Amino acid sequence: MKIAVVGTGYVGLVTGTCFAETGNDVICVDIDIEKVEKMRAGVVPIYEPHLDVIFERNIKQNRLSFTTNLEEAVEQAQIIFLALPTPPGEDGSADLSYILGVAEELGKMIKEYKVIVDKSTVPVGTADKVKETIAKHANVDFDVVSNPEFLREGFAVDDFLKPDRVVVGTESAKARKVMEELYKPFVRQGNPIIFMDEKSAELTKYAANSFLATKITFMNEIANYCELIGANVDDVRRGMGTDTRIGNRFLFPGIGYGGSCFPKDVQALAKSGKETAYDFSIINSVMDVNHKQKYVLAEKVKAYFGSDLKGKKLALWGLAFKPDTDDIREAPALYMIDELTKAGAEITAFDPEAMDNVKALLGDKIKYASNQYEALEDADALLIATEWQVFRTPDFDRISDKLKAKVIFDGRNLYDLVDMRNKGYYYNSIGRRTITND
Ligand code: UDX
Repeated sequence: MKIAVVGTGYVGLVTGTCFAETGNDVICVDIDIEKVEKMRAGVVPIYEPHLDVIFERNIKQNRLSFTTNLEEAVEQAQIIFLALPTPPGEDGSADLSYILGVAEELGKMIKEYKVIVDKSTVPVGTADKVKETIAKHANVDFDVVSNPEFLREGFAVDDFLKPDRVVVGTESAKARKVMEELYKPFVRQGNPIIFMDEKSAELTKYAANSFLATKITFMNEIANYCELIGANVDDVRRGMGTDTRIGNRFLFPGIGYGGSCFPKDVQALAKSGKETAYDFSIINSVMDVNHKQKYVLAEKVKAYFGSDLKGKKLALWGLAFKPDTDDIREAPALYMIDELTKAGAEITAFDPEAMDNVKALLGDKIKYASNQYEALEDADALLIATEWQVFRTPDFDRISDKLKAKVIFDGRNLYDLVDMRNKGYYYNSIGRRTITND
């Protein structure tokens, strides 16, 4: 099939590349000429494991190309994916100006039947708006379909190629057939394509992400409570998660969820609830609890050293909102840095991928180490904000050589409690008893 993908951000790029991989001809459109030229030269503009290999392969085999010319792409394509940004406005609602701007142009450009697919996470009712906008100018038949993505950063290629399910919102039989054909290679294992109306598909994305954010937040509250009563959240999590009705995924407590999707989608659902005079009280609580959770580790540090941290040097492992990404959007580490530097602490951080992004944002507010051990030099404590694999089995002798004292605050529960006791650390993690070294 011939496909155009408009917008080469995270979603657009993964979508375009993976459709090319299953033999389609894909042309990706972006207004950023520099970015387009780089992609033509084979450079992937984002960090995402495994994307580079299939990106290169499909460019070489002429199935994946790039242009700044929307009209040229639209003319060739039967299916046009819209993967455009929907940044939250000041009031938390999604800004649709990019999508509706392109819809306006599409209306003027299309000369034969096209399926236009909303791939971005958009508020309920957007497919209708896109339809109306295109219809203002178009003289030909077309369909607008909602097809939300459920990609996780760091696993996006795998999630796209082997999805648990594909959600397609359309009531047009013609569009349904096209989408069925397109997704056939991805659901061979029997995973379903779930068809529904456009609004339900749009809501499915918000409901799924908000549910997962709620699951994590619930566990964070249980973890906080475990600390108060002296229970161990690891055991509680295992005890709960083995009930198949609950499931053992997304039950890991930590220092709050971050990233580009959960915070934005949860906020947008609350906002659209408000607009329809529906008070999503669970969703509102999730946002409050998650905000507080981002400060939990900083509070523990203050409780240990006192609230004035002047003269304290802290090593920070992890800046990205989760491992295997350089994404720092809504990263708990940033909230922690803000709180601790306000209290006077000096922070030296290391992250395997996200340091450039943090440098661009925070400049010399903190120091940056070239490896995880260098960050520890002369520090009063080590703080862990992201569960990168490389932090899971470190050389504890090197850690204790460099730190002034054996003190670790772990926001991701990376280490075993007995092990930390045997090694003589003060070890404070989430939802587990604190190991003291006295
Ligand atoms: C998420 C959804 O999983 C994906 O379906 C959607 O399309 C986009 O949003 P992503 O943001 O890439 O993907 O990351 P994910 O792995 O889901 O983690 C989100 C956040 O939850 C991270 O901050 C992570 O640290 C946190 N998390 C996740 C927990 O704190 N505990 C868990 O058990 C799982």
